[in-house]
Formats: sequence, structure tokens, C-alpha cells
Amino acid sequence: MSFQHALARAAAETDALLDSLLPPDAFPAARVTQAMRYAALGQGKRLRPFLVVETAALFDVPRQYSLRAGAALECVHCYSLVHDDLPAMDDDDLRRGKPTTHKAFDEATAILAGDALLTYAFEILSEEATHPDPKVRVRLVSQLARAAGVAGMVGGQMLDLEAETRSSTDLSDITLIQSLKTGALFRNACEAGAILGAADPAPLIRYAEKIGLAFQIADDILDIESTPEALGKATQKDRNMGKATFVDLLGLDGARARAEALVEEAIDSLSPYGAKAVILSEAARFIVERRK
Ligand code: IPE
Ligand code: IPE
Ligand code: MG
Ligand code: MG
Ligand code: MG
Repeated sequence: MSFQHALARAAAETDALLDSLLPPDAFPAARVTQAMRYAALGQGKRLRPFLVVETAALFDVPRQYSLRAGAALECVHCYSLVHDDLPAMDDDDLRRGKPTTHKAFDEATAILAGDALLTYAFEILSEEATHPDPKVRVRLVSQLARAAGVAGMVGGQMLDLEAETRSSTDLSDITLIQSLKTGALFRNACEAGAILGAADPAPLIRYAEKIGLAFQIADDILDIESTPEALGKATQKDRNMGKATFVDLLGLDGARARAEALVEEAIDSLSPYGAKAVILSEAARFIVERRK
């Protein structure tokens, strides 16, 4: 199976699973469940669930387990986007080709929908359908909590905002910001595969750290080179907002070279898995070559 086919399959299965797992529109607090569904369903690349499924597949984990772990992670990712777009953060009006959640609803509802998606992720993971062994479920829960929290995504978002008003950031500051705000959830995706497969996570963590950084570099390059129509979100924002990015420090060519080197290192980390990891190798290349 090609990478493109594997990604499309994981994305379609994740969409269907999220649709069935998320509370219905008619729930008592209907406005917030509508906003959760609005933020989570449709148009995402579903790259993080894909990584959970493909890393778990290295260890022959049944797909129904890895899809649920991937759906939980996607809920955290979607929450992070809803909050990232709020006026107090990046202040964006367009996400995945449609108005951001606070534009389609209102700020308070967007905050609550984000909170609800975050907590829902842990509800999904803790259910028996995610894995029959409760020890595995607890590990998934604790790893996702760590990745999403102050030592991961939230910590990175704080540093990202602080860097807007700081006079100088160097390469090590930027690497830390990116590896927390974006890298932590990529790492969690690959760790979840290893947890489900009761396997040594070390090679996959190395892979994830490289592709996480490369992914954010590509995001920062697309902010400069792409258009809102192609990307489904605003462009030309990072420089105006004073964001600390690799592009800012290394220039476009330097950032591109850095991302390509990271991809080669990521692919090298997959050597213990041999031919089984070919789709993950292609995923690493896609991460820097993508146009969206
Ligand atoms: C966007 O992530 C946020 C970043 C970490 C740069 P994606 O580019 O994976 O967004 P979707 O899920 O496909 O919309
Ligand atoms: C966001 O990074 C990372 C998150 C934790 C959501 P960006 O702020 O660059 O993501 P986009 O460009 O808005 O998708
Ligand atoms: Mg941001
Ligand atoms: Mg943003
Ligand atoms: Mg960006």
C-alpha cells in the first residue's frame, strides 16, 4: 500500500470514528457539542492518528485499538487548534477552510469546546474498547496527559507567545519551542503505537522528534509561500506577529535544508523495522514536501 493510500484510509476511519464517538448535537448542552463536532470533524489531514495506526501496525496491534488511541490524540490536537486560533492567542479567522470555532460560535463556546475535546480524549482512552489491558490504558492516558500539558504542547504554546515580545531568540530557543508545541503530540502518536504494541519506544521516539520538528518547519515555510485558499488557514502571519521560527533565523533555504536533514535522520531511525517501516519513511518525506 502506498503512503497516500494509507493516510487516506486512516483519515477516513478516524473521521468515521470521531463522528460516532463525539457526543451528538442534541446533547443537553447542545451548543458546546455542536462546537466540538464543528472543530473536530472534516478537513484535517489526520496525520497524528495515521502515525498511531502505522507505528502500532509495526507490532501487529489490532487496528480498532490504534484507531481509538489516534482519535483521542486527534481530539487533543483539535482542541489545541481551537485555542491557538482564539483572539488572545494567534487571533485567526480561518481554519481547515472554514471560519474558526470562535468565529462560527463565540469565544466562550470555543473555549469550552476546546476544554471538552481535551477531556473527551481521556474518556476515550480510559474505555475498555481502547485496549483490554488496563495497564496499557493507564500508560496511554499518562503519556497523552504529559504530551498535552505543561511539559509538552501547553508549555510550548506559552513559550511561543512569550517569544513574540522577546527581542532575540536563538536556534536552541526555537528548537525547544517547536519540539514542545508541535513535537510533543507527534512524539505521543509514535509512543502510543509502541505502548499498544508493548514494544521499546526508543527508535520511534527518535523518529517522532525529527518529524515533529520538520513538520513545524514546513508549517512555517507554508505560512510564507502558500495562500489561504491552498492552506485553509491564514498565511503571512508569523512575521507580522513576531513569531520565533526557523525560517526567521535560517532563511527559507536554510530552513528547508534543515527540514530535509531532519527527514533523513528520521528515516535512519526506522532502520530497526526494516521493510515494515516503508510507509513511515514515506510519511517523513510527505511532511516536508506537503503543500497543505
Ligand atoms: C497544524 O497542524 C498545527 C501545527 C502544529 C502546525 P496540521 O497541519 O496537522 O493541521 P490539520 O489537522 O491538518 O488541520
Ligand atoms: C500551533 O502552531 C501549534 C499548536 C499547538 C496548535 P501554529 O500556530 O503555527 O499553527 P497554525 O499555523 O495556526 O496551524
Ligand atoms: Mg500558534
Ligand atoms: Mg496559529
Ligand atoms: Mg503556523
